[in-house]
Amino acid sequence: MAAGGSSVLRAGMVGLGMIFDETYRPFFERAHAEGLWDKRFGPLQVELSAVGSRTGKRSAAYKQSAGNKIADFQNFSGENAIDQLVATNVDLVCVATPDDRHFDSAKKALAAGKHVIIEKPSVLSLRELDELIALAQSKGVLAKVVYHKLLDPDHKKLRTLVHDGVLKHVNNGYCSLLEPKSISGSQFAEWITGRNPGTYVAVHYLKLIDFTFGGRLKTISATGQRGLVGPKDGPTWDSVQMRMVYEHADGREAAYDIHTSWVTPNNFPGYVEQEVQFRFDNGVWNGHSRKRGVELTVEDRTPNELKTTINTHYNGTFVEPWGERSQRGYGIEVIERFVREVAYVEKGGPAEQRNDRLKEMRALGYNDLSADRQVVAAVQALEAILEEAAQGRPDAVVTYEAETGKLSLARPGVAQTRVLHPGKG
Ligand SMILES: NC(=O)c1ccc[n+]([C@@H]2O[C@H](COP(=O)([O-])OP(=O)(O)OC[C@H]3O[C@@H](n4cnc5c(N)ncnc54)[C@H](O)[C@@H]3O)[C@@H](O)[C@H]2O)c1
Repeated sequence: MAAGGSSVLRAGMVGLGMIFDETYRPFFERAHAEGLWDKRFGPLQVELSAVGSRTGKRSAAYKQSAGNKIADFQNFSGENAIDQLVATNVDLVCVATPDDRHFDSAKKALAAGKHVIIEKPSVLSLRELDELIALAQSKGVLAKVVYHKLLDPDHKKLRTLVHDGVLKHVNNGYCSLLEPKSISGSQFAEWITGRNPGTYVAVHYLKLIDFTFGGRLKTISATGQRGLVGPKDGPTWDSVQMRMVYEHADGREAAYDIHTSWVTPNNFPGYVEQEVQFRFDNGVWNGHSRKRGVELTVEDRTPNELKTTINTHYNGTFVEPWGERSQRGYGIEVIERFVREVAYVEKGGPAEQRNDRLKEMRALGYNDLSADRQVVAAVQALEAILEEAAQGRPDAVVTYEAETGKLSLARPGVAQTRVLHPGKG
């Protein structure tokens, strides 16, 4: 028990980039000030107690600027930062490095017996996914992934209508998510070579579709454009269009097109453009995350520094009606949920029932890695299709066998398929 009669959960953070600033930082600062409470685990102190990153510069600057808004965390950097971080007494580790570096940190944290949450996309291959799931299982800890769009009230409503059978049987749909040029041009310049905007953001919709509508993923195809972020014949993509075909339990199919880009002009009226349409047997859902009704003009400030159509639901900064300054939204709520799940496992009842609580939290398909299989399969497929295209072999189609988990890539006119993941067959 810590001071004031509350127990403590200590968190480690790997990577202190843009997403830390938008979601983890406001969560940890608020938790530092207020703690968390639940009648199952009582008052809980949550501390960010260790940070690991490549250079340690941002964490040092953050520590300086945050002052007493945050606990006095240990700051590890360089080659051994993650090993040092997981050797501390942290209970949980949040992995927010670029996505091709998630696996190594998550593996080290799980191997050290820490609960883990990974930013989307969790990992880039089914092999890595299997390894992390098995490790979490053997160490008796949670391994989860952040998909904050599932907590967006609009998406919760969509899922509720599907779940309750008001919207019946999805047949097809499209989603688009367009990021500004600043993302590909400066924010991610360090790691963008060889990467594509589909893996980075289509994954939000892969999960929304997979979680909301269910069914078995069958095929993935994709194309894209190059020439702005990198050379027109290189491995770095400006925009990507992918299509997934699913089969429902009744044998009928559904198809989804997902368009993504990270070269939208910076003076776009909203920071990120996000639109979806899903067509059902008996209805249509049209959603626009940017045009939710607000249009703001401030002379000399919109649309660059301030955005014209703002998403106040994801992560907004406010002066609350009661005077307090806050930063809140579903992007932050999703981090808090995970910490509550860990607290429930560790402190939500008698020690001898910990395993039951662990099982209960693992069964939550919205964030458990074990329920991320079809999403990771689609991401791995996309990466492989784009890699083939960059090598002059476009138009590949990947097939996923949901029963065995086998993933194979076929190219037009080529009889032999390339096995991307052998599956359990
Ligand atoms: N949920 C969302 O909407 C959302 C939004 C943005 C980013 N993300 C995800 O968050 C992750 C990070 O994105 P970001 O925008 O914060 O990126 P970023 O480039 O701003 O920051 C990455 C951070 O990771 C650190 N880092 C890089 N390699 C590392 C390593 N090997 N070990 C330790 N630290 C390392 C960097 O020093 C930096 O602090 C990505 O997986 C991304 O997909 C999610």
